[in-house]
Amino acid sequence: MNKITIAIDGFSSTGKSTVAKQLAKALGYVYVDTGAMYRAVTFYTMQNGLISKDDFNSEALIYQLPNINISFKFNESLGFAEVYLNDVNIEKQIRTLEVSSYVSKVAAISEVRLKLVEQQQKLGQNKGVVMDGRDIGTVVFPEAELKLFMTASAKTRAERRFQELIERGDKVEYKDVLKNVEERDYIDSNREDSPLVKAKDAIEIDNSHMTLDEQFNKILQLAKMTIEDLE
Ligand code: DC
Repeated sequence: MNKITIAIDGFSSTGKSTVAKQLAKALGYVYVDTGAMYRAVTFYTMQNGLISKDDFNSEALIYQLPNINISFKFNESLGFAEVYLNDVNIEKQIRTLEVSSYVSKVAAISEVRLKLVEQQQKLGQNKGVVMDGRDIGTVVFPEAELKLFMTASAKTRAERRFQELIERGDKVEYKDVLKNVEERDYIDSNREDSPLVKAKDAIEIDNSHMTLDEQFNKILQLAKMTIEDLE
């Protein structure tokens, strides 16, 4: 059977990674969470005191980029690959609201994008990959056979994200989560390098009123149809 590249882009907290993981499992494909890579660089930036609420030393970050090694290791019990920064598992640390509050600034740096896009292209070079992010269908794999663009209202997304953070035990307020979602939408869509835009040939999926099962079945069907069309 032909293997394809599946690019899933969209706004933050639209459930891209949930459906991407399900899809990769069903098809026996590799799943790559590119947001985790930008979050890993952000975590490094924070750990090294290069970013705070009022300051971001992007020049120092660019200079230190060669020291940053991001890798993924499959976790059998979780069923997906966790992200490592210089061989340390940082999967949990990168999902905090603090990392979310800085990540769009770090992701707007062209040198950071260049490094991560190169690694993403290597990870997907043999096809059979489901990759989610903001620029997968436009920049990383413009030739992807199936491109999806996920949307939902900011309120719906903030509610979902708030629930996730609360379930993890994080002490957060809904209004701060909503503010973060709106701020990231703005920065990710308006940055100069690789802004979040829907690729012309992407299929838009608004999941505001879809259950996870409905969404998964719809997307699995689209993937199967795309694969069959190539045979
Ligand atoms: O998918 P996520 O919320 O974990 O992504 C975190 C941030 O990383 C997001 O706000 C924008 C950035 N990002 C990006 O610029 N390009 C990607 N391909 C993936 C994420």
